[in-house]
Amino acid sequence: MAQTLTLLGLESSCDDTGAAVVRQAQGARAEILSNVVIGQETLHAAFGGVVPEIAARAHAEKIDVAVERALADAGLTLRDMDAVAVTAGPGLIGGVLAGVMCAKGLAAGAGLPLVGVNHLAGHALTPRLTDGLPFPYLLLLVSGGHCQFLRVGGVDDYIRLGGTIDDAPGEAFDKVARLLGLPQPGGPAVEGAARSGDPARFAFPRPMLDRPGCDLSFSGLKTAVLRARDRLAAAQGGLYAADRADLCAGFQAAVADVLAEKTRRALAAAGPGLRALAVAGGVAANGALRDRLAGVAAAAGVAFNAPPLRLCTDNAAMIAFAGLESFRAGQRDGMDLAARPRWPLDTASPALVGSGRKGPKS
Ligand code: KG4
Ligand code: ZN
Repeated sequence: MAQTLTLLGLESSCDDTGAAVVRQAQGARAEILSNVVIGQETLHAAFGGVVPEIAARAHAEKIDVAVERALADAGLTLRDMDAVAVTAGPGLIGGVLAGVMCAKGLAAGAGLPLVGVNHLAGHALTPRLTDGLPFPYLLLLVSGGHCQFLRVGGVDDYIRLGGTIDDAPGEAFDKVARLLGLPQPGGPAVEGAARSGDPARFAFPRPMLDRPGCDLSFSGLKTAVLRARDRLAAAQGGLYAADRADLCAGFQAAVADVLAEKTRRALAAAGPGLRALAVAGGVAANGALRDRLAGVAAAAGVAFNAPPLRLCTDNAAMIAFAGLESFRAGQRDGMDLAARPRWPLDTASPALVGSGRKGPKS
């Protein structure tokens, strides 16, 4: 299909309502014409985590607003679209349903093809949206709901080399922030506090490094921070700012150590011919982690790719782009497109145990 394609993309699988327009001429770099994200942080703040029912209702209320804004920002109308792409899973099912229903309505009303997108494919293909990265590459997806290594060999070719067996790292950052009285989302707060901390003061564990393979675990690390906090509180009657900084620095260093070593192994396991190590998901915003991963990539002799922060976190541009690549490859969905709470990208790998705060970690 040698043509320029313009797609509207919708995202509503967690706590960000997104709509975006992406255009790509065949063989050229894609262009983001608009990318609207309506966050729900204030709605969930009082609950210390995402409440699925509140999220679903907010998506249903805001998704059409996001679509209108995305089209207006792009200076286009539905008539200018070649298809409508929508996250059809995995995620919090009420939100996914809100997006899928909206996309079906738009597609049916405007006579456009519909393309169901796996949210994880959206993250996985982002380095192609931002930098036109050629296949194959290794992707480390690290967010509040996901943690996995994927060998990305094509638009629909994913091999899962390992992942978390319990919490996702973003979830661990958020829990550690809560333990220490820092604001949510915890990642930026913990990273900020860690800047003035001593990473060596607390000897936190490096979970699963003693085991072969690329699987990871973060829940024990969070418990180790809890114990250290309680020991300090018992000994001195509370925490000083320097204690918080040291706890954050120690925790962040442990996460970075574990992710760096497992990434080194995943690069070796991904086989020859890899073009790059790419990182995506909200935790990829972490500067300390980025530096470590860049070092691992350099040591393995592959390029390192980290998308700009606003495209690392959940957004609809990645869904529009993944939909565009799938559409070009021939994917079309009907009005029977299902919303799926779980949807592993690599169906050949065994399912993961556990379910994240923000939905299933497929
Ligand atoms: O990808 P994302 O926006 O949403 C999903 O979870 O799908 O990722 C959000 C997660 C939160 O857990 C947040 O604490 C974490 O990414 N995060 C960070 C940083 N910025 C965001 N974690 C560590 N360091 C950061 N600078
Ligand atoms: Zn995500």
